[in-house]
Amino acid sequence: MAESVLQLNNVTKTYVLGKRKNAQKAQKAIHKLQKKYEKLAAKGNSELTKQIRKKLNQAQTFFAADKFEASYHVATGKTLKKRRRDRGDVVHALNNVSLAIQKGELVAIMGPSGSGKSTLVNMLGLLDEPTAGEIYLQGRGVTSIRRHELPEIRSRELGFVFQSFNLIPTLTALENVMLPLKYAGIHLRRRKDIARKALERVGLGDRLNHDANELSGGQRQRVAIARSIVNNPAIVFGDELTGELDSKMTQEVMKLVLSLNKKGQTFIIVTHNPDVAKHAKRIIYMRDGRIEKETQH
Ligand SMILES: Nc1ncnc2c1ncn2[C@@H]1O[C@H](COP(=O)(O)OP(=O)(O)OP(=O)(O)O)[C@@H](O)[C@H]1O
Ligand SMILES: [Mg+2]
Repeated sequence: MAESVLQLNNVTKTYVLGKRKNAQKAQKAIHKLQKKYEKLAAKGNSELTKQIRKKLNQAQTFFAADKFEASYHVATGKTLKKRRRDRGDVVHALNNVSLAIQKGELVAIMGPSGSGKSTLVNMLGLLDEPTAGEIYLQGRGVTSIRRHELPEIRSRELGFVFQSFNLIPTLTALENVMLPLKYAGIHLRRRKDIARKALERVGLGDRLNHDANELSGGQRQRVAIARSIVNNPAIVFGDELTGELDSKMTQEVMKLVLSLNKKGQTFIIVTHNPDVAKHAKRIIYMRDGRIEKETQH
């Protein structure tokens, strides 16, 4: 089997809004149990670890069914009285999602607005913490990695391209691409060299010294892609990376994504555009915080 770069196991993300006291309590209890589970699991797979995992799954299942009192009871052994007048909402942004991304894949994530696509990408990109569940990056459990290590892992292993480019308009293309290297302790000349090569790879070797605001939309997004790959990340994420581009520029950017993918770069992209998604061998469809279906061709 191919090497799995990124894996989600039963990942859940819930938001409790307003005064849903019991939901809040149950959510906290689940989170606490999750932490306990991670600590124990790091030490080895004892009988106690298995028991806690089972409890965690049960508590999570009740929570997902809005049975907050039952969820709290499983997680803590204590009882909550059912409250009828609590106002507010519980949003199951991600509901028990399991997913493995293999090295070299180009995966598209689709689904209606609010279905959990960005939440999913934020989990995969280690930008946000799940309420429950486990994330593995190159086989290493991420949820148990201490928080202060995360930014470093993110900047070393992951690249991001967002809808609105996020380039610094007054810096040149070269300077923008050099930015992620700034904190890696690389000598200035070498940083310039690496950044120039990344821009050449995206076909912008002749635009190195243009300010970002002196480039077309498609060129800006290519600079953003150069910036995302400059560290040789294991995975590049794009959330609506062609969202603000016309169809010609979208094609230009997708051609680049495909050629980088052919050379082995792993991509996970969120898109509403079927013309973008059709380039992906694997399409994941989200609905109501769950993976509704997956197609592979
Ligand atoms: N910080 C938050 N607090 C509360 N609810 C949130 C929060 N972030 C997201 N949500 C809710 O979680 C659900 C999933 O949101 P998400 O942003 O993942 O959707 P999406 O599929 O990316 O939608 P879009 O296509 O509009 O970008 C939505 O119902 C949203 O309202
Ligand atoms: Mg989104």
